Amino acid sequence: MATWHKIIFGDCRNMLHDLKKESVQLMITSPPYFNAPFDYPGLFSSYEEYLDLISTVGSALIDVLAEGRIACFVVQDVRIKGELYPITSDITKIMREVGFRYRDKIIWKKPEGYIRISRRSGVMLQHPYPMYYYPDNIFEEILIFQKGKFDYKLFKKTNPDTLERSKIDVKKYQTEKWYLSVWEITNVLPLEGRLEQGIAAFPEEIPRRIITLFTLKGEVVLDPFLGSGTTIKVARQLERNSIGYEIDIELKDVILEKIGYYNARLIENDQIIIQVKEKEVKKLRTYLSEKVKNQRSASKKNRS
Ligand SMILES: C[S@@+](CC[C@H](N)C(=O)[O-])C[C@H]1O[C@@H](n2cnc3c(N)ncnc32)[C@H](O)[C@@H]1O
Repeated sequence: MATWHKIIFGDCRNMLHDLKKESVQLMITSPPYFNAPFDYPGLFSSYEEYLDLISTVGSALIDVLAEGRIACFVVQDVRIKGELYPITSDITKIMREVGFRYRDKIIWKKPEGYIRISRRSGVMLQHPYPMYYYPDNIFEEILIFQKGKFDYKLFKKTNPDTLERSKIDVKKYQTEKWYLSVWEITNVLPLEGRLEQGIAAFPEEIPRRIITLFTLKGEVVLDPFLGSGTTIKVARQLERNSIGYEIDIELKDVILEKIGYYNARLIENDQIIIQVKEKEVKKLRTYLSEKVKNQRSASKKNRS
């Protein structure tokens, strides 16, 4: 099935200017984790500014999503200078306030060997006494919200062939344990030189499961915080249409590479639309990676 994919380089807070009411069947995203020290240091001037962004996006989503459909955030609370910011509960509160139902929470468990930022738990080995407990974090949360209730009678009007081709592979569902509220999925490893370096990309398996579970082929998937373009790549593979917003124009090449834009064979039937809103885009990657580098060397110095 030929599909279309629209990449809008601009601010997702303005999505109501571009998208029609109820024109999207699924939103899946992973927003910046506030000012996460090793991804987005200093991106927002305050936590309130960050929550304002989520609030604006949430209100727009209630308009652009079709009735009964799903909005899904992959997030985790973030620790900055020892303080834990409750991003997951604040997003839940905001999404409920703008009118979504809180439908489910999935824990995304990463492999145990992977601790990206620091091994806090080592403190206990140096000081084996009460009050020295600092667990290492190996999970993120997949928050699932729903706009009203889905009318299953709509399937009666769906093309039977589309419905059949969108059927869930029950064998996979069982063997890969999609039915549990804990998903064990390997994260994108932060390897030097890889396409997603410094973007905090989620693994393709997350949008793959969410898109498969909540949309039919040919429907529209939206990612307001596109990053490296994972959602669009997977939407294409699953024969869904997609729209992604990314404010950082410096990610243009990464996104186009990831979604197969430069591979003529891949785009043969699909339509890729690129829009750049010159007044809205920023150049973030170079600035952020410089700040992250400084942060890393400062934290190394503190440890030695
Ligand atoms: C955590 S990353 C998304 C990673 C993505 N899921 C992937 O797999 O690559 C969040 C992205 O949101 C972008 N962003 C931040 N504020 C934005 C805004 N107002 N509008 C659009 N994109 C924004 C950042 O530049 C960053 O690339």
